[in-house]
Amino acid sequence: MPIDNADLAQDIETQYPIRFPKEQFEQNEEWFEYEDAGSWKRLKIHDYAEIFKVPGLYEDLVYTTLRCTSPTRITRMLDQVLEDWPDEPSDLRVLDLGAGNGIVAEELRNRGVEHIVGVDLLPEAALAAERDRPDVYEQYLATDLCNMSESDRTRLQNANLNCLCTVAALGFGDIPPRAFAVALNQISSPGWVAMAIKDSFLSADDGSGFSRLIRAMMSDGILEVQSQFRYCHRVSLAGEKLFYVGLIARKLRDIPEALLEEIENSSQPVSPSDKSKKNGLITDTLKRSSS
Ligand SMILES: C[S@@+](CC[C@H](N)C(=O)[O-])C[C@H]1O[C@@H](n2cnc3c(N)ncnc32)[C@H](O)[C@@H]1O
Repeated sequence: MPIDNADLAQDIETQYPIRFPKEQFEQNEEWFEYEDAGSWKRLKIHDYAEIFKVPGLYEDLVYTTLRCTSPTRITRMLDQVLEDWPDEPSDLRVLDLGAGNGIVAEELRNRGVEHIVGVDLLPEAALAAERDRPDVYEQYLATDLCNMSESDRTRLQNANLNCLCTVAALGFGDIPPRAFAVALNQISSPGWVAMAIKDSFLSADDGSGFSRLIRAMMSDGILEVQSQFRYCHRVSLAGEKLFYVGLIARKLRDIPEALLEEIENSSQPVSPSDKSKKNGLITDTLKRSSS
């Protein structure tokens, strides 16, 4: 039987009472129960399709109880970087990848971004965005970027996108490297990228495809980092801080198909320049971008 986690529940008011198991789970196995109309229902924290069906539950769980800060942190970082560039927020034409029910888009709107296209794998996310934040997106595509219809492809191309924003949607089996690459290649070169990633993705010790893609993009000059900041993305069910890294980068060119295939087919490091990483952190890319 789950019990309330006293630390997490303390002083927090939510529309739906929420409780958590006493045992600890991996981040992608975590579950919770919420009370609706007198009965308790159990869902995995990553079962977004079911969560989005219940108005307000995603906000109660992820933002109020687990104190997720990523949409605010990433959009603020983007805003700050733009201060030193001629581009205004209103010049951006953003692809919000893994858009969910529109919380990131709402933050972007609050900072002056006017053109946002949402993309999410789940029709339930598109419905929730329309229900919860009907005015934030110009368009919203519920589609698998790895298997898009011609009409969705045309809609994305016609949107003339120049900024990719992806928050809390990379890793844990969410967006695969190929879907990310399709999204990034929709963005003009030069263009902008604003994303939140697990801090381990920047470590040479992380051999996952996504980690290797991120590092290859930085070392091969696809991305030129302008700002990198480690911050608390949210707390775990045990109340411990989970750290992510916010990255704001210039996108300078597309991800070549050959690089993507190499990453998908190989468990080896993708770039000789990976060998120059010290202490598991990217150092050469940051030096180059600041010179
Ligand atoms: C944690 S939610 C984040 C939602 C929103 N970005 C936010 O910060 O509130 C992750 C989202 O990524 C979406 N997602 C997972 N895999 C995806 C994929 N392959 N393509 C597009 N979206 C995906 C999920 O459906 C979910 O809406």
